[in-house]
Amino acid sequence: MPALSEIKREWWKEAIVYQIYPRSFQDSNGDGIGDIRGIINRLDYIASLGVDVIWLNPVYDSPNDDNGYDIADYRQIMTEFGDMNDFDELLAGMHARGLKLVMDLVVNHSSDEHYWFQQSRQSRDNPYRDYYHWWPAEKGTPPRRWSYFDKESNAWAYDAQTDAYYLHYFSEKQPDLNWENPKLRAEIYDMMHFWFRKGIDGFRMDVITFISKHDGYPEFEEKYQGQHMIDIYAQGPRLHEYLQEMHHEVLQHYDIMTVAEGPGTKPDNVMKLVDERRGELNMNYHFDHQGIGVGERYIINEDFQNLVEFKRVLTEWDEVFSEHGWNTIYLGNHDFPRMVTRWANDSPKWRATASKMLTTFLLSMRGTPYYYMGDEIGMSNIKFDRIDHYKDLMTINWHHLTQAEGGDLNEFIESHKITARDNARTPIQWDSSEHAGFTTGTPWLPVNPNYTMVNVAAQEQDSQSELNFFRKMASLRKQSMTLIYGDYQCLFADHEHAYVYTRTLDDEQLIVLLNFSEQSVALELPMAVKDSALINNYDHVDIDGKTVTLKPYQALILNTLA
Ligand code: GLC
Ligand code: CA
Repeated sequence: MPALSEIKREWWKEAIVYQIYPRSFQDSNGDGIGDIRGIINRLDYIASLGVDVIWLNPVYDSPNDDNGYDIADYRQIMTEFGDMNDFDELLAGMHARGLKLVMDLVVNHSSDEHYWFQQSRQSRDNPYRDYYHWWPAEKGTPPRRWSYFDKESNAWAYDAQTDAYYLHYFSEKQPDLNWENPKLRAEIYDMMHFWFRKGIDGFRMDVITFISKHDGYPEFEEKYQGQHMIDIYAQGPRLHEYLQEMHHEVLQHYDIMTVAEGPGTKPDNVMKLVDERRGELNMNYHFDHQGIGVGERYIINEDFQNLVEFKRVLTEWDEVFSEHGWNTIYLGNHDFPRMVTRWANDSPKWRATASKMLTTFLLSMRGTPYYYMGDEIGMSNIKFDRIDHYKDLMTINWHHLTQAEGGDLNEFIESHKITARDNARTPIQWDSSEHAGFTTGTPWLPVNPNYTMVNVAAQEQDSQSELNFFRKMASLRKQSMTLIYGDYQCLFADHEHAYVYTRTLDDEQLIVLLNFSEQSVALELPMAVKDSALINNYDHVDIDGKTVTLKPYQALILNTLA
C-alpha cells in the first residue's frame, strides 16, 4: 500500500466532476431549451456545490439528430445555445470561480450536414471522399455492421449519388469519420488546439474506443453480432497508435485532463488506454456496472439491482489501478437513468435518504467521481408511459424495431421507465413555479411532476436536504487525502444489502457503510470503530461493540480504531 508521499498527485485525481447537459440545465430566453446564458446565470449555484470540474455535453453547431452528438461545425456554437461570445463568457466565469471546463470531443463521427460529408458524398474523387468510410455498391452488399440508432440496426446506408454505402455506427445522420486518413487526423488535432488555445481544461472523448476500423471491413465472427459488436468495435487495430499520436501532437502541450467514454473497455484491456507510461489518456469510464440486469434494447431482468454483482464489478475495476492509471466512478449521466431510480429507491418514502446514500458512495470511492446534474437534489425518473412522449431517437428506434419484429411492446415501455435515456434529460428542477423555473416557455422535454416537492429552492432552505448533504460530502472528500488516494478494500462481498469498504492511507483508516435496502442490516465488523460519524444521512448511529446496525438506505463514514 503506497504512502501519500509516494503517490503521484494530480489535480484531476483530486477533482469532483459535475456534468451539465446544457439542453436541460437552464433556459434564459423562453424557447424551452437550456442554453449557455442559462448556465452563466447559475454559475454561483454550481460553485456553491464544491465541485471542481464541469463536463459540458456538446454545445457545437448541430442539427440535433442526437442532441448535439452530430456535429456540423466543430468551431461554432449551436444557435439554440448561444454564440461564441457567450461561450467565452462562460469559460471566463468558470475560471473566475476556480472551476475548470471539460468539453465533449465527438470525433468518431460527424453530422451528415458537416461540410466534409457534404463534399465527401458529391463524387468518388472528391478531395473529402476519404474523410469517411465508403463501400462501393459494385462490390455487393457490405459485410454486416450493427448500428445503435438505425431503424433497421444496419450501420451501412446506401447513398445513390455515388452508388456507395457509408458507415454509421450511430444514426444515419452520424457518418463515421475515417481516422485512417492522416488529413482527417490533422484536421481533428488542429481543432483540438483551437479549443485548448481558448483555455479549456480537457476533453471527454465520445466513443473514442471506436475510431479505428478494421482494414477492408472484413466479416466479423458470428459472436460479435447484435449488442456484442461493441467488443470488436473497440478493438480496432490502430486505436492506440492514433491516441499516442494525438497525445504527441496535442495533449502533451497543455495542463489538461482527458477521459475516454470507453464502450468495450474491460479490466484486462483498459491499461492500454490509461497507463501513464504509454502517453494516451488520463482516465476511462466503462459500462460494466450499467449492464447489470439489462439486456438487449435495455430490457431489464430481476438482476438489475443485484448488489453482490455490483460490488464484484466495482471491486474488480478498483484493483486494475492499484499501481498505474486512475479510475473513474459514476452511476448516471445523460445516457443512463436517474441514479436513485436505477440503483436504489425513488418512492416518496425513501427517495431522499437513498439519494444521500448514493452520493456518499460516489464521493467515497477511489477514482475521480463524475456526478450528474440534478442528482444532488435527488431527481428521479419521469417514467413515460407512452412512446410518443419520448424524444430520444434511440428509444424511438428500438421501439420501432421491437414493433416490426412483433415483440412485447408492453415489456418495452415498462423496462424503459427504468432504463431510457430521457429519464435523465428532464429539466433541472429549480423551484416550485411553473416548469420548475427552468423556462418561461414550453420545455423541450416535460419537467418531472415531482418538482413541486423536489427542487433546488426548497432544498436551499433545509439544512438536512439532499443538496446540503451533497455539499457536506463534497467538502469532506476535498479535505480527505484518505478518501481520494487511500487503498480500497471491500468487506462482506457476498452481503446482498450492504456495501461496506475501508479506505486506508498512512495511519488513517475510514470505513464506509452503505445500506442499499429497505430493511435494517446488522453487521459485525472485524475491527472497532469510533462512534462519531464523519457522514451520516440519519441523526443517529447504532453501534454495540463491533456491531453496527444500519437503518434503511443509511450511509455512514466512521474512523476505525485499527
Ligand atoms: C455517446 C454519447 C451518447 C451519444 C453517442 C453517439 O455514447 O454519450 O449520448 O448518443 O455517443 O455520439
Ligand atoms: Ca433557450
